[in-house]
Parts: sequence; structure tokens; C-alpha cells
Amino acid sequence: MAGKRIGVTGSTGGLGGRIARRLADHGVEQRLLVRDAARAPRLEHASAIVFGGYDDADGMRRALDGIETLLLVSAAEDPDRVALHRGAVDAAVDAGVQRIVYTSFSAAAPDSTFTFGRDHFHTEEHIKQSGVAYTFLRDNLYVDFIPLLCGPEGVIRGPAGEGRVAAIARDDIADVAVAVLTGEGHDGQAYDLTGPEAFTLTEAAAELSRVTGRHITFEDETVEEAFESRRSSGAPDYMIEGWVTTYTAIAAGDLEAVSDCVERFCDREPQRLGDWLRANPESYRHLLHTA
Ligand SMILES: NC(=O)c1ccc[n+]([C@@H]2O[C@H](COP(=O)([O-])OP(=O)(O)OC[C@H]3O[C@@H](n4cnc5c(N)ncnc54)[C@H](OP(=O)(O)O)[C@@H]3O)[C@@H](O)[C@H]2O)c1
Repeated sequence: MAGKRIGVTGSTGGLGGRIARRLADHGVEQRLLVRDAARAPRLEHASAIVFGGYDDADGMRRALDGIETLLLVSAAEDPDRVALHRGAVDAAVDAGVQRIVYTSFSAAAPDSTFTFGRDHFHTEEHIKQSGVAYTFLRDNLYVDFIPLLCGPEGVIRGPAGEGRVAAIARDDIADVAVAVLTGEGHDGQAYDLTGPEAFTLTEAAAELSRVTGRHITFEDETVEEAFESRRSSGAPDYMIEGWVTTYTAIAAGDLEAVSDCVERFCDREPQRLGDWLRANPESYRHLLHTA
């Protein structure tokens, strides 16, 4: 285990996978904590260790033995997500981890409009109280998800009004994460990670129209309509509330502030929605084939 001082969770996922790949490209030794060895990315300078997830305190302590810095990627949405995160933090501290870099969310607060943002606030508080050194990466909405807000019929629907969202590409978050994980001077900091501009969903629909060649629109919904239209998904109430409050958080202006963190840490502009869409055509493939 000697030399493997960075532990990385979430490497089987979209964000953690990008961060692990970049660390490997930089020649950084890392230990990947995964729930399924078969899905661990095969990377140079990386070893994978299996644990049972954030609720497996023993496994997590074992996996983190000798690790100095932990990238803690927030868990999938779960009614007990705060408890999962608290358990993971406690296990990390018990194992001797000295620094946690946690992927949080913009405007994390106990009463944030976006209900899942409250989990991030409570996790941040727990990390602060644990005494470990920390850095919070408060990610805005992923640009990667903007095309997914649009159904195959070509309409984005939700109670976002003319609110703006400074969405950011996961690639840009990953670049900042690597700068933070491998750099110094980030202890005690909370960084808002955003794209270079805040756009309305009407503007997002216009960008999607440009890349798909279809007429894509945004239709504002009332909060009641939003809950009603998502009820048929069969998803649990807390999940539907999280989906709907993504839009109401945009309407409230909670996601509109633009930060300069990507420029500061990566020496380049973050990606704009239009550029990102053109570079990632698979992201809107579901909008290209219509009946
Ligand atoms: N800013 C945004 O717009 C936004 C949007 C969606 C989600 N998020 C949050 O950001 C996180 C990372 O995003 P992503 O795109 O990388 O998501 P993702 O592709 O779904 O990957 C999530 C990763 O976290 C791991 N994970 C989930 N629950 C876990 C648990 N209880 N214990 C241990 N590992 C767990 C998964 O492991 P397995 O492969 O074993 O499941 C996977 O590696 C998400 O988990 C979510 O909390 C942010």
C-alpha cells in the first residue's frame, strides 16, 4: 500500500471516473474504492479495493488504511443519504484520513430550494465537525444533464420560469478536482464550480434546437403540474420532489451565480453549453429520431 495516498470513491461513475482517469494520466498513485471489482476502471498507478459502500464502515476503514486524502463522491440519491455520508466520513477519520475533498452542490443549505442540496449541507457540516481538513466542490447542475431535461417530443418542461442556471460539464469539475487533490492551499475552502454563463431553459432549448435542427422549446409548468406529470414515473415522493425542486431552484435564482474557479485552477474557460453539445452529440441522440 506504500505510496498510495489518495483514495477515490465513485470511480465507476461519471464524475469519479473522470477524476480517476485524470489522476492516472498525471501519474498519481491512487486507490479506487469500488463496490464491484469487475466495474473498476483499469488505470495505471491505480489499485482497486472492494468495499460494501458508504454503509460498510469496516470495509471502508480497511480500504482506507494508509490513505491521506479521500475524494468522497456523494452517494446516489437515497432517503438516508446523509446517514450514508456521515458513516463514510466517520470511517475515513477512524482510518486516519487527513483530508476529505467532497463533491457537494451549489447553494447547499439546510433549507435549500433543491431538496437534495440539504443533504449536501448536512454532510458538509459533519465533515467540518469531524476535525478533518476538507475542501468542498459545490457543483452546479451538470451540463451533461441539460439534454436529458428534454423529452423525445422536443419539450423541456418544469417550473423554472425565466431563472438561470450556470451548469458545468463534469469534465470541468474533474479538472478542478484533480488540481485540488494534487495541490495545496485548499483546506477549509468551499468552491462553487460553474460554467462560464448562466442560461435560461428557453436559451437551453434554443441551443438544443441549433444542434439537433429541430424546434425544441421550454414550457414553464406550475409546481402542481410538475408533481402531477412526474407521478406516473412511479418514483418515490422524495425523488420526485428532488426532480421538481431542481427547476424551482433555477426559478429562485439559486443556481445562477457564475464563479471563476475553473479559470483559476485550470487556466482556461469552462465549456459553454453550445460547445459542449457539439463536442458530445451522443448526449442529444434521443432527440434526433422522432416519430
Ligand atoms: N450536480 C449534478 O447535476 C448532479 C446530478 C446527479 C447526481 N449528482 C451527485 O453527484 C454524484 C456523482 O455524480 P456522477 O455523475 O458521477 O454519478 P454516477 O455516474 O451515478 O456515479 C455515482 C458513483 O457513486 C458511487 N456510489 C453511489 N452510491 C454509493 C454508496 N452508497 N456507496 C458507495 N459508492 C456509491 C457509484 O458506485 P456504483 O457504481 O457501485 O453504484 C458510482 O461510482 C452522484 O452520486 C450524485 O450524488 C450531481
